[in-house]
Amino acid sequence: MSLNATFTEPWSGYIAEALPSVPRLVLFALINIPLLVVALNVVYQLLPRDRSLPPLVFHWLPFVGSAPAYGKDPIGFFTQCREKYGDVFTFILLGRRVTVALGPKGNDFILGGKHTVLAAEDVYAPLTNPIFGKDVVYDVPNEVLMEQKKFVKVALTTEKLRAYVHMIDEEVRNFLNTDPAFQIYQMNDINEWGAFDTIKTFAEMTILTASRTLQGREIRNNMDKGFAHLYTDLDHGFTPLHWMFQDLPLESYRKRDAAQAKMSEFYQNILRNRRAAGSQDEDDVMSSLMQQRYRDGRALRDHEIAHIMIALLMAGQHTSSSSSAWTLLHIADSPEIGKALYQEQVEHFGAGDGHFRPMEYEDLKKLPVLDAVIRETLRMHPPIHSIMRKVKSDLPVPPTLAAPSEDSVYVVPAGYTVLASPALSQVDPLTWKDAQKWDPTRWYDQDGAAAMAQRQYDEGTKVDFGFGLVSKGTESPYLPFGAGRHRCIGEQFAYLQVGVIVSTLIRHLELRLDQAFPQPDYTCMMVQPKKSQIVYRRRHFD
Ligand code: HEM
Repeated sequence: MSLNATFTEPWSGYIAEALPSVPRLVLFALINIPLLVVALNVVYQLLPRDRSLPPLVFHWLPFVGSAPAYGKDPIGFFTQCREKYGDVFTFILLGRRVTVALGPKGNDFILGGKHTVLAAEDVYAPLTNPIFGKDVVYDVPNEVLMEQKKFVKVALTTEKLRAYVHMIDEEVRNFLNTDPAFQIYQMNDINEWGAFDTIKTFAEMTILTASRTLQGREIRNNMDKGFAHLYTDLDHGFTPLHWMFQDLPLESYRKRDAAQAKMSEFYQNILRNRRAAGSQDEDDVMSSLMQQRYRDGRALRDHEIAHIMIALLMAGQHTSSSSSAWTLLHIADSPEIGKALYQEQVEHFGAGDGHFRPMEYEDLKKLPVLDAVIRETLRMHPPIHSIMRKVKSDLPVPPTLAAPSEDSVYVVPAGYTVLASPALSQVDPLTWKDAQKWDPTRWYDQDGAAAMAQRQYDEGTKVDFGFGLVSKGTESPYLPFGAGRHRCIGEQFAYLQVGVIVSTLIRHLELRLDQAFPQPDYTCMMVQPKKSQIVYRRRHFD
């Protein structure tokens, strides 16, 4: 009996018993071919490699590669790979070759690259095009995306942001007064504690506040009448599965496509109604988009405006809601910081009896505790853990980042994907003291790593990629909003939204965490806390 037969005989015996009609040869093939494929894959990795290629992360299964380890805990995976291979290495992700570049120099290498060499659209389009729709964002050449980003940036003037502060505050107070999760609060009982689901509550507050402000009154008014369902169907198409596998014959894909078509029509209908009613001067982004022109003088077509609005809805939803959720969880878990935050509200807004003067846009810049709390939360929990680009032509790695030897360089071949992870550089013990500790006070130290990282992001060379001057900032270890030409344009709005939501809640509620601090859930597109509850009580002088 051959070694192979000895090895497989017991298994084929069992299977033959279970499936008596399957011929033995088929069984033999079913068991041995996968083993052979795994063996060949291992041998291939042990063969001498082209020394200009970055080291390849060892994996057992071809095609699948390191997908399970990366998908379960990307930061842990990068940390382990870094120990073994250094700051630059390649791993296999469902058939794709992904070269990771870590640390501030890795951020600079990827986020500061030329778009003719590093294309975001080639990576993100399969996920986002079916959701956003045609002719926007990654469905257009990069220079058109830059113009579209400028349109949105122009729409987010200080004057608009100023008006949004009151709207967000009002939405949050209304939520507290009406949502079933805050029944205890509504009962006016100052002794009783209630609990709310973190993810659900902040998802709802975020979409309500974004629709009341950026999205406009028609969207806000329809939130309870069907728009929320369309959003849900669209959102269920925003998953790693839909990114990796296009157009599978599954219900979620069909619902996604139907929701996109209906939502697009919904926005275009609003546009037509506004034109017919002559009401084109609202406080929202749509109104501003209706008045803008591309460089060649052309106005935006209705479907482009509709699809930019959908893109903004999606770009701002999970990012802001997970940021608010993590922020509140940390505050609930840190009574001292909770007290300091509340004290700051009392001192700044002049109340000892539960009556606060209304918040203004300018106030938000004068609340150092709130500012530090949000910054520190974004340091530890940036919603986006991997920023990717497709390599269009062979790309040498700067030797200061990583090199095979003193006189040679690594080259990332065309066709590879490259990946930067500011999420890792933001918790890198090489940069941050007590990196894994949530400590807002680190942001008060003007000479500390946090302040230095922020300066690197905010100051230095200014560049205009087509959507206004921004600091290049790509070499900072702290980049929750990305950097370079794909840098976030929602940063100020997000700070304002999260800041007002947190302030309003802190003014009205005492918070507590009655469970272990939740772990991050990496199975979603944006990192959010695993299912968790925050315990609350109405502040006693309300
Ligand atoms: C881009 C983070 C909120 C709109 C980005 C990027 C990051 C990011 C890291 C860069 C992606 C890349 O380089 O591939 C965040 C965080 C947010 C937030 C942490 C909240 C806490 C928002 C909001 C909006 C928005 C509220 C809309 C109003 C965009 C847009 C881009 C972008 C349009 C540009 C995409 C590109 O140029 O490819 N954001 N974002 N974001 N974000 Fe945000």
